[in-house]
Amino acid sequence: MKRFTLIGVSAMALLHAGCPPKGETGNAAAAGGGEILVGEYGSLTGSEATFGTSTHNGIMMAIDEINAAGGVNGRKIKVVTEDDQSKAEEAANAVTKLISQNGVVAVLGEVASSSSLAAAPICQSNKVPMITPSSTNDEVTKKGDYIFRTCFTDSYQGQSLGRYVAQQLGVKRVALLTDVKSDYSQGLAKWFEQTFTQLGGQVVARASYAKGDSDFKAQLTAVKGSNPQVLFIPGYYTDIGQIAIQARDLGITVPLVGGDGWESPKLIEIGGKSLEGSYYSNHYFYGDPTPLVSDFGRKYKARYGANPDAMAALGYDAARTLADAMKRAKTIGGQDLRDAIAATKDFPGVTGLITLGPDRNAIGKKIVIEEIRNGQLTLKSSVEATPAAGTAPAPAAASEPAATGTTATAGTTMRPSSAATSAPLRLNPQFESQNPSFARQSCKKLSHITATSTMVRFPHTPLTQPHQTY
Ligand code: PHE
Repeated sequence: MKRFTLIGVSAMALLHAGCPPKGETGNAAAAGGGEILVGEYGSLTGSEATFGTSTHNGIMMAIDEINAAGGVNGRKIKVVTEDDQSKAEEAANAVTKLISQNGVVAVLGEVASSSSLAAAPICQSNKVPMITPSSTNDEVTKKGDYIFRTCFTDSYQGQSLGRYVAQQLGVKRVALLTDVKSDYSQGLAKWFEQTFTQLGGQVVARASYAKGDSDFKAQLTAVKGSNPQVLFIPGYYTDIGQIAIQARDLGITVPLVGGDGWESPKLIEIGGKSLEGSYYSNHYFYGDPTPLVSDFGRKYKARYGANPDAMAALGYDAARTLADAMKRAKTIGGQDLRDAIAATKDFPGVTGLITLGPDRNAIGKKIVIEEIRNGQLTLKSSVEATPAAGTAPAPAAASEPAATGTTATAGTTMRPSSAATSAPLRLNPQFESQNPSFARQSCKKLSHITATSTMVRFPHTPLTQPHQTY
């Protein structure tokens, strides 16, 4: 862990509020009227540096807005940030320090699931609530009742991708390439495979790598021999960029498909043309014209000079969810704060309404699928999420009838199957049938995207017309 602490606090807050005396616990500090200390741990440097940096930007924008609007019942929030250098061991050290030395009342982080899994038990045993903005591995929130997430899970994401590849892309043969060091990669591959094979697909090759590897040629050569139609690679952007380049060098021309771990402004910078025609799932699409998203994008760009990626949006949402819970909590710390976070319902986030379910996972989050085209991200499909985000997905029977009517089919240009042109992507029909009003309501909310968009440029100014295609 780097021995420096970034303290994000507005000049006003610095002038008006002192730090809690050394040795004072977060809960004791919270009981007074001073600043409320919130810890953040993230990958500000290292192989996933954009994850931590974007998340930090989103968090700080949220906190400054909250403080400018009067803070939490008159008290300002101060964020203490620790860099874990994209290493799970350092994530555990960072959280230990935030709790034992800084006395934070709650912790925001991490992005990478392996880091959240390493740090969560420390938050749990100290009864300091932790909210991960973006760790999707299903095991994270199972670490205890103080551990929350404001994003969807990999059981949900993997199921969505499995369906997309099998039904929308009409693919039958997939090769899997996974990162043995990443809980995220292993979990997402497992959920993907379950749904993809239930829908009649076949995994024709498996290969693995370890984060930080630079030569993927042996694995890619082996995979190529099995003649897959798609390579499914649930990794992080730095590795993906290099894998894409080496795959093309070896003459592999089929699309690569992945999950949210691809999301980074560096992805296309590293992978360049090698990523053309590849797909990944994500939490949010910048070009969504709903006022909440477009206002967020405008404010973020004015502040940081760049369009917000998904981590920025998720960091912003997690920080605002926490502050909202603080306003409702009987006292700001421990069990009271935990209970207030757990009671979060329909909180309006940039990435969708945030409701925390009994498993402390956000339920009902949407998922988008993006394609890299002409060096840009384009929206291919927006899928209404379901509360399966908190639970294992319902088994997807191969014989399940095609869903109809609610979500537009992506403008797939790659080997569309007949199903791809007629069957919209709809997940968890079982949940929809049990919760018809939820399904109707959420479909309506996004109809401006789902019903009309086949390709929307990203990053871009918000849409002004329903059809914006190449
Ligand atoms: N979901 C990834 C994980 O759990 C992290 C991630 C989230 C990466 C969002 C990019 C965008 O490891």
